[in-house]
Amino acid sequence: MNILFIGDVVSSMGRDMVKEYLPKLKEKYRPHITIVNGENAAGGKGITEKIYRGFLEIGAQAVTLGNHTWDNREIFEFIDHAKYLVRPANFPENNPGQGIVYLKMNSEEIAVISLQGRTFLAANDCPFQKADQLIEEAKVRTPIIFVDFHAEATSEKQAMGWYLDGRVSAVIGTHTHVQTADHRILPKGTAFMSDVGMTGPYDEILGMDKEVVIRRFLTGLPGRFEVPKTGRAQLSAVCIEIDNKTGNAKKITPILINEDHPFYS
Ligand code: FE2
Repeated sequence: MNILFIGDVVSSMGRDMVKEYLPKLKEKYRPHITIVNGENAAGGKGITEKIYRGFLEIGAQAVTLGNHTWDNREIFEFIDHAKYLVRPANFPENNPGQGIVYLKMNSEEIAVISLQGRTFLAANDCPFQKADQLIEEAKVRTPIIFVDFHAEATSEKQAMGWYLDGRVSAVIGTHTHVQTADHRILPKGTAFMSDVGMTGPYDEILGMDKEVVIRRFLTGLPGRFEVPKTGRAQLSAVCIEIDNKTGNAKKITPILINEDHPFYS
């Protein structure tokens, strides 16, 4: 099974990139399942029902979230009936939504898990213990398990990769918006990458208006993050080939599309 995972889609520029390139990526990489991290998809913060449905309509099978899950209030109105929306599983018990989703692909099933790190992020439940619990639950149904680990620190992401090596098919990091060059298959068969990178404005800082960010660094004064609506855009993704029987990864291919890294079909 091939899984295509598109990293942190930021605002309309990011959504337009997904719309434009998803058909081309499907043709080139032949994914059976496409997963999109959409936690920044609505104006850079959170997601709306229309955007969530839009991702499914253009060919994604699941949408993962992260620390911006609750930033758009609309989420509370639809998260509990959004079957393919996955928010971090280690949020406090009884939070709305779900942290694991099962997708069917012919006779195979894949578990998609979202977890959030705790270093420089909110003090949620332990993502490592939550991973243990969810993997035990998922293994009864399928060996194919994909983990989006939404975290800030590369050390915490590497720790999760090694901790889950041989127990899940992939641990792919999100949140830092910069694609890392450390994609690999760990010795026991788990595909790992510290961060898949972001999809959206290319000439800004992590997708946000760079002038505001620079001013904040220069002055230490607060400034409202703005998401540009025009300009050059990029898409970051990763494709993982998985052995259906063992759930082990066979190949991991990073994908980066921007004017400095053009797409070749
Ligand atoms: Fe994030």
